[in-house]
Amino acid sequence: MYTNDQQREYVERTKELIELKAMLPPKEFAEEEMAELRPLIVFHEWRYYVKDEPMIADWEYDRLYKRLEFLEKNFPDLIIPDSPTQRVSSDLVSDLATVPHLTPMLSLDNSYNAEDLKGFDERIKKLTESEAEIDLEYCAEPKFDGGTVALVYENDQLVRGATRGNGAQGEEITHNIRAMRSVPLMAAFSKYGIHKVELRGEALIRKDRFLKINEQREELGESLLANPRNAATGALRVKNPQEVENRSLEAFIYQVGYAVDKDGNDMMKSLATHNEYIAMLGDLGFKTPALDKGERKVCKNIEEVAEFVINWENIREDYEYEIDGMVVKLNNLDLQEKCGYTSHHPRWAIAFKFKAKQATSKLINIEYQVGKTGSVTPVAKLEPVQLAGVTVSSVSLHNEEFIKSKDLRLGDTVLVERAGDVIPYIVKSMDELRDGSEIPVAFPTTCPTCATKLFKPENEAAWRCPNYSCEAQVLQRMIFHVSKEGMDIDGFGKSYVERFYNEGWLKTIADIYKLDYEAIAKLDGFGERSASKLKKSIDKAKKNPLHRLLQSLSIHHLGKRASRLIAHEIKDVYEISTWGEEEFLSIKDIGPKVAANVAGFFEDEHNMLLIKELEAVGVNVLQLEADKKEEPIEGGALSGKTILFTGKFENLSRTEAKKLSKAAGARVLSAVSSKLNILVVGEKAGSKLKKAEAIETVQILTEKEFFAILESEKEEGTE
Ligand code: IVH
Repeated sequence: MYTNDQQREYVERTKELIELKAMLPPKEFAEEEMAELRPLIVFHEWRYYVKDEPMIADWEYDRLYKRLEFLEKNFPDLIIPDSPTQRVSSDLVSDLATVPHLTPMLSLDNSYNAEDLKGFDERIKKLTESEAEIDLEYCAEPKFDGGTVALVYENDQLVRGATRGNGAQGEEITHNIRAMRSVPLMAAFSKYGIHKVELRGEALIRKDRFLKINEQREELGESLLANPRNAATGALRVKNPQEVENRSLEAFIYQVGYAVDKDGNDMMKSLATHNEYIAMLGDLGFKTPALDKGERKVCKNIEEVAEFVINWENIREDYEYEIDGMVVKLNNLDLQEKCGYTSHHPRWAIAFKFKAKQATSKLINIEYQVGKTGSVTPVAKLEPVQLAGVTVSSVSLHNEEFIKSKDLRLGDTVLVERAGDVIPYIVKSMDELRDGSEIPVAFPTTCPTCATKLFKPENEAAWRCPNYSCEAQVLQRMIFHVSKEGMDIDGFGKSYVERFYNEGWLKTIADIYKLDYEAIAKLDGFGERSASKLKKSIDKAKKNPLHRLLQSLSIHHLGKRASRLIAHEIKDVYEISTWGEEEFLSIKDIGPKVAANVAGFFEDEHNMLLIKELEAVGVNVLQLEADKKEEPIEGGALSGKTILFTGKFENLSRTEAKKLSKAAGARVLSAVSSKLNILVVGEKAGSKLKKAEAIETVQILTEKEFFAILESEKEEGTE
C-alpha cells in the first residue's frame, strides 16, 4: 500500500509540517495544505489503527489533526466527506434501516479436534475429486468473536456498512462503520479492476480496552458491559457514532463476499487464492489477520492446519482480542467453487472451535456486597464449576437491573461464561429447566450490613447505602485508603487492613494512623522489623499532598483529577467545608455530580470530625506550596501517563526530569513493565531500553522529543 520510500517521505513531511506555526493562510494555500494533510493523517491512522505500529508520537498526530480541523473550521466549504475529520458525525441516527446483503452471509460448519479436521479434509478431497494422498492447501485464521459486519465499496469509496442480521439482510450502520479508524473511507479497489465489492469482517474491542471502558462506566455509575463481544455488537448499533469512537471499536476484514468490475462481470476469482484476496485487502489498507503476526497461515496440508490451530488454542488468552476458534478455508478458489455451499455454510470452510468457556451451574444464593462509596453489588454464589481451567463459584451480578433483565431466580440453572481475562458472568438462566421451586430475587431495601434504607440516585444503576459510617463501607474505604490509588502506604494492603480490623484495631480511617506497633510486632507472622517498616510507611504517608487525602476519603464521583483540581484552589481542607456546590462548580472541569457529593460530604459533621481526627494524628491537611507547584493544571501534557528515564542526559538531571514529568501529570516508574507508557532514553542506555523495546506499547523518546512534548502543551490553546 505504501512503499518504504513513501513512508519515509510521509514521516519527514509530518515532522516539517508540525513545526509550522498556527497561522491562518490565505484560502488557496489552505486548500493546498489541506490536500497534503489529509493523506498524511490517513497514513498515520493506518500505521496506528491497522498496523499497530505508529511512526510518530500521539501528540504529533494530534498536531496534524488539529491543524486540519483548524483549517476546515475557517474554510468550511473546503471540507470533503472523506476527510479524516469527517468520520464521526454529530448527527444522531433515528432508526436503523434494513438493507439486503449483496450475497447471503452464511454460517460455518464446526469442528472440535484434529480428527474432525481430518474428516473435513477427506470430504473436500472427494468433492474436488483430488487424490487422497495429495495434500491440499488451507488458509487458517482466527475466528473473531465480535459483531459481524458487511462493508460495501463502490468506486473506491465506502458507501455502506451493515450488521449481519439474519444473513439475508442486516441493519444499516454506515455512520458507525465510518467512525472506526481501522476502516478506510477510500480504498483503491479499481487498482485490482474491482468496481463494487462487499467485504465481510468482525467488529471488535480489545480486551484491555474493554476492561478500561467498564472501569470508567463503574466510576460514572453506569451499567457494566458483560463482555467484549457484547460491547462490540452494542457499539455497532448505537445511534451516536461518538460512542463507537469512545469504545475504540476496530474491524478485522477476513472475506470478500461479492466483487464485480465496471461492466458487472464477476471478479470473485480474479485472484487464485483466498490468501491472495486477504493480501489484497491488506494492501488496500484494511486490518486483516496478518501473515507476519502469525494470525494467518497458509498450511501445506491438514496436519499443518491442526498444529497451527491447536497452538492458537493454547495462546488465545494472551491475544489482544477475543476469539472463539479458528477458521480453516480451502485456499484455492477454483477448488472452493467445486465444493460449493449448503444453505447453511460453505463446504470449503470450517470453524475449529476452542474448548467451551461456558458451563451450567446452580444459583444457590445471592450475597450483597457494600462498596467503599456505599454501592450495593449483588454477587451470585454458584455450585463450583470448571470453566476453561478455573473453578468458578462466585460471579458478580452488577446491579438489580441485571437480575431483573435476566429474570434470575434462586435455584435456577444458569449458563456461566468466562471469556479471556474478563471476569466470569452469567449469560442467562435456563428457564426450561425450572420445576417451580425457584424463588424470585427480592433485592434488599435496606443495607445488609447496617440496615439503613437504601437509595438509588437518578440515572445510576446501583442502590446505595447512604450511611458513611456503615461498617462494610468503612472497611472497604480503609482498604482503598491505604492502596496505591489512595494514600499509597507502602506494604499496607487489603490483608493487613482485614487483619487489624478483625483484631478490633481499626474502626475509622483515622485509626490507621493510631496503630500500636508493639502489638503488631507480636502478631503471628509479623515481628519488630515488619512493624517498624509499616510505621515508616505510615509516617511517610502522613506527609502526602492534600489532593491524595481528598481522593483517599472515597467520596462518590471524586476521582484523581477532580481531587487535584479542588486541592489546587484551597489552602487547607477546612476551606472547602464552608463551600456550597456553586463554589465547586466555579472550578473549571468540576461537574455537578462531583460538586454535590463533595459539598455533601463536608456538610456532614461526622465527616468533619474524621478530618479533625486525621489532622490530630499528624496527617497533612494543608495545601503546601511545594505540592502546588507539582500539580498538573488542566491535565498536563503527560496526564495519566507513566514514564521512566534511562541513560545520561545532556540538559537534564534525573531529579529535574522527574519533577518536570510529575508537573506535566505523569507518574514516574522505577522499572520497565507493561504498565510503562514512555521511556525517555539518554546516552548509554542499557538493559531498560532493550526490555522496553520488547513491549509494543512503550513509547520510546529522546531527550529532545521529551522536551518537545512538554513544549507542545504550552503552545496548545493559542490556535
Ligand atoms: S468466514 C462464507 N472467517 O463466524 C464464509 N468467518 O459462524 C463465512 N467469523 O458470524 C465466514 N471470524 O462472521 C469467517 N476469520 C473468519 C471469521 C468468521 C469470525 C464469524 C462470521 C460468522 C461466524 C460463522
